[in-house]
Formats: sequence, C-alpha cells, structure tokens
Amino acid sequence: MAGIMPRRLDLIPLPASIQWLGGSELPIAIGSSPVCRETLTEEGFAPEGYALRITCEGASVKASTALGLAHGRQTWLQLVAQAEREGNGLPNIVIEDEPRFPWRGGHLDVCRHFFPLETVKRYIDWLAWYKFNVFHWHLTEDQGWRLEIEKYPRLTEIGAWRDDGDGGRYGGFYTQDEVREIVSYAAERNITVVPEIELPGHAMAALAAYPDLGCAGREIQVETSWGIFEDVFCPGKERVFAFFEGVLDEVCAIFPSVYIHIGGDECPKTAWNACPDCQKRMADEGLGDAEELQSYVVRRVESYLLGRGRRLIGWDEILEGGLAPEATVMSWRGEEGGITATRAGHDVIMCPNSHCYLDHKQIDDPNETVGQPDEVCTLANAYSYEPLPKGLEGVNEARILGSQANIWTEYIRDTRELEYAAFPRLCALAEVFWSPSGKRDLESLRKRLAGHVSMLENDGVRCCKKDL
Ligand code: ACM
Ligand code: ZN
Repeated sequence: MAGIMPRRLDLIPLPASIQWLGGSELPIAIGSSPVCRETLTEEGFAPEGYALRITCEGASVKASTALGLAHGRQTWLQLVAQAEREGNGLPNIVIEDEPRFPWRGGHLDVCRHFFPLETVKRYIDWLAWYKFNVFHWHLTEDQGWRLEIEKYPRLTEIGAWRDDGDGGRYGGFYTQDEVREIVSYAAERNITVVPEIELPGHAMAALAAYPDLGCAGREIQVETSWGIFEDVFCPGKERVFAFFEGVLDEVCAIFPSVYIHIGGDECPKTAWNACPDCQKRMADEGLGDAEELQSYVVRRVESYLLGRGRRLIGWDEILEGGLAPEATVMSWRGEEGGITATRAGHDVIMCPNSHCYLDHKQIDDPNETVGQPDEVCTLANAYSYEPLPKGLEGVNEARILGSQANIWTEYIRDTRELEYAAFPRLCALAEVFWSPSGKRDLESLRKRLAGHVSMLENDGVRCCKKDL
C-alpha cells in the first residue's frame, strides 16, 4: 500500500501470508485489548487454517475448525502482546495461515533429571505459544521411572529414586492425578501429550524395582551414570509381556493420545544372546537373530496397542529386524531411518539429532556447561533444518507427519538450564515446523528473536543470547 511501511512483525511462527492494509491502526491500551470476533465457517480453510483480519474497526478470525480458530486466536494474542510491548496500536492486516506439518512436537526427558509439575506446565505454555501441538513426555529410563503405575508400585517406590552420590537420593515421580492434570492442561492449549514408556532397553529403573523382568534376574540399582546399558527387559519371559500390558493399560487410561511411544532405541542384545529363555523364544518363533527378537517385542506390543485403538511410535531402531506393520517411526539417527520407513509405507516424524536435539550445546565453547559436552547445535543449524528430506521422489510426502524438538536432560539439570537450552532455538524450530519453507530467512529470524527474547525474559525465562 502506497505510503504504508510494513511494521516489524516479530510473531513466530511466521504466517503463510500477510497482507498489509492502509489506514489507521486499531488502538490498544495495556490491559484493554479490543475484542477479536471468531466465526466458524463451513469450509474454505485447511483443518488447522485460519484468517485473521484486523482493521481500525475491529478484528475477526475465521476458520473451518475449532482448532483453526484457536490458532487464529493465538496469533491475535501474539500481536496484542507485541503491540503492548511496543506501546503501539495493532497493524491493519490480513493474515491467512495454516501449518506446514500436522505434527509439531516438543519432547522432554524428565528421567535423567526430574522436573517439577510447574516446569512441565511452563514447557507446555511455551509449546502452545509457538503453536506446537504435541508434547512428547519421556517418562521412563535407566536413571528413573517417573510415572505412577498402580499395579506395579515398586516402579516409583524404588525405580523413581537413585543414589545422588552424596549419601542421599535423587528423583521424583508424577502421580496419576498429576499426570491427568498435565494432560488436561495441555488439551486446553490444543496440545496432545504423547507418553513414552521405554522398552525393551533403557529399563534399569524398572529392573531395579522388579529384577525378575530381566534375563538373569539379577539385583541392580537405578543407574546413576549416562550411557547405554546391558540390563534390559527379557522377551523370553511371558511375565515381561504381562508387565508391558499392565503398564500400558494404565497408560492408555490416563493418556487419551492415539499415539503411544514405546521407545525401542539403544537396546543392547548381549543379555538376550546369553539367556536360555530368549534363545527358546527365538527358536519357538523362528526368529533368526536378536534383532528379530526386538522386532517380535515391538510387534507384540503394537498388536496390544492396536487392540485398544492406539498406535505405536518408536525410535528408528524399531526398523531393525523388521518394522511392526502399522508403526510410526521417529527418525533420530539422521534421516535414513525416516526415508526407509516412508518408502515402506509408514508414517514418520523427523527429528535427526544433527538439528533437532536442543540438549546439544548451542555454541561451540568448552566453557558452555548446559548441554551435551561433545555436541553443538547452533541457532543457525536448528533453523536450517528441512523436515522433508531430499530424495523422496515418488513417495507420498504426507507420510512425513512433521518434526520435533527433543530435549534430553543428562546435562540439563534444572528448570533454568531447561529454559536456557530451549530458547531461542525452540522459536527457530517452531518456524521450521509451521511456516512455508520459502519464508526461511535467518537474518529476519535473528531480528525478530530480539522481541521474543525480551518477552520471554520479562516473563522470567532464562534465554541464551550468545548466538543471537
Ligand atoms: C535417542 O536419542 N536415543 C532417541
Ligand atoms: Zn532373556
């Protein structure tokens, strides 16, 4: 529009299309933002799409679904927050918008370090603000089992606590009531909580509680160091499947998510190869090797979940030994697993550790103490991520459901460090997951992040500013 300079628009993720209208702004005063009318239309928008129109007369959102309306309302709130921050009115503007991917995930490991309920809620608040729609909650690990299971009380009596190296114990867990509170808190913000219950590896906390679920039945402690460990669940024993089913029954009762994540990563096969029960299972089932035994576990668990109307997700190791028929794959060791699974007709979530692991240090500096010591993922690197891999010609790209930011917490010890690891890279990934790829512009992102960092800091959030 002649004579109208586009105003800085630092909301993230960038909407698909913005049209600047002329005329005077819609005034707002702090604490008295004008009302935004919402209209549900029969058709005309993508499932999560919306149009937001702001003129000097008022504001309106239109969408074909309640979810679209919610996204429009979210953009409106972002604009109001920005206008309040800057002491301006609202720009006259038409935004037409829809997300690029239907799965926009944020993951949090609460096992290596435990995070209080309030922190989990804050994390969900951030995800909602930046239009993520999945909270992947990593609840069980070698170093701690964090979810109360009524049928197996020792999981939290014993498995939630480890030696703190100082004569005390470190840990914690969430009661089922607390978890229900989180699930509804997230649902109110249009976020689905996808729980992860790790099997058959990363099981030491569970085995410390119930040693007879392991191959040799030996007594072990909840692990205190980081790594990959050989004490894993024994798929030669029927009681282990009864345990999985008992746990998953309670998980399904608490979490309405269609998708249940069963881990499946980093499971050494040493114990299985030495275990008579595992060897017998392999012989009985005609399984050629231990990889196929892992595949047997995942298939059996998938069939149990399907029988309850749920779908299984696993890390890309579930490809080894043969993929369960309807499994969705989370590709973390690069893109290869995701590409292979897509070609085999499976749905995929791409989260390669090269770009999507926000527990990697954000600057290459040995003095940086937050994050994995030997791994770096800069803001620019995270922002450069393209979830649709090259070389998918002829394959249905819709199989790539989307992507996810993952935060493991070996080297993220408390809420302040979590904030620092997340911001500002979570903003960069939000834009990667939501906005059209053609809108990617690092310099513009850096400028817009200034507004976000100041908003987050005003809210008491610790941000990393070393790479801005
Ligand atoms: C993973 O990072 N082990 C999934
Ligand atoms: Zn065994």
